[in-house]
Amino acid sequence: MLTKNRTSVSSKPRKPVSPEVAPRSARPDVGYRRELAAAVAAARAAGRTMRENLYAPKKINATYAHDIKLELDVQCQAMIEKELHDRFPGISLLGEEGDAGDSDSPQRWVVDPIDGTVNFTYGIPHACVSIALQTRVEATAAGKTGRRPAGGGYETVVGVVFDPFCGELWTAIRGGPAYLNGQEIHVTQTTKLREALLSMGFAKARGTLETSLPYFNQLVRRVRKVRMMGSAALALTYVASGRFDAYVESGIRLWDIAAGGLIVECAGGEFWHEPIAGRHAYRMVASNGRLRKKLQAIG
Ligand code: IPD
Ligand code: CA
Repeated sequence: MLTKNRTSVSSKPRKPVSPEVAPRSARPDVGYRRELAAAVAAARAAGRTMRENLYAPKKINATYAHDIKLELDVQCQAMIEKELHDRFPGISLLGEEGDAGDSDSPQRWVVDPIDGTVNFTYGIPHACVSIALQTRVEATAAGKTGRRPAGGGYETVVGVVFDPFCGELWTAIRGGPAYLNGQEIHVTQTTKLREALLSMGFAKARGTLETSLPYFNQLVRRVRKVRMMGSAALALTYVASGRFDAYVESGIRLWDIAAGGLIVECAGGEFWHEPIAGRHAYRMVASNGRLRKKLQAIG
């Protein structure tokens, strides 16, 4: 049974929602509406291709000990890039499958075309498209707000995550609420680890695996359940939606977490992350804001 303080959008009957993002009356005046609409359109286009190909044989471009790269990763990113570039030719793109334009420009899209590629390769319908828009913030401005920007000098202002298999679209604009299919979502209020449902990611690199395993060994004894679902972006949106109380991963890339991290924050949660060695690499704890210190004290 769910704890009393667990809130989830799925516990309420869903009203059919026509606007992509939220009822107009509920929309705060926070700007970036056109950028959000472009990101939603791009995510839906890539999501269509993912759905059409879930059960199809897939061309594998590379395999590693703990990872797979598909031709469809590349094709979906190209599709997203075209959609975004057609509408916003001046904004560069930093993606899991490569960059377009100057990735240090004042604004940049951060794109994971298929997050959960291994699931998708095996026909497991748990994968998504993740698109964030980031703007560069001056060191002084970041210092003033006390906010550590997700991309070393950037902060995420728009976040879109689309799960084409469940038809779930999460959206957020910094300063406003987070939405799932147009309905506002919130993190849980769980404060006790023993009541918490946690998700953990196991990175691809041997080094982070070696640090994650002892942590997992402790964590699994302290919380109600640990889940490893295989898509960091979806795990973050599940925290935002009150399905998970927290998500922990010790070696993750910016494109996995930029959009989902903003969605967690806009849903009232905390997106703690700090840079580690490696290109756009981070360790992170996303939570309802009440569990992070307890989670960091483990291990
Ligand atoms: C991976 C997934 C996985 C996470 C890894 C990510 P990919 O992304 O999000 O859940 O544990 O750290 O790299 O390769 O499926 O796009
Ligand atoms: Ca990814």
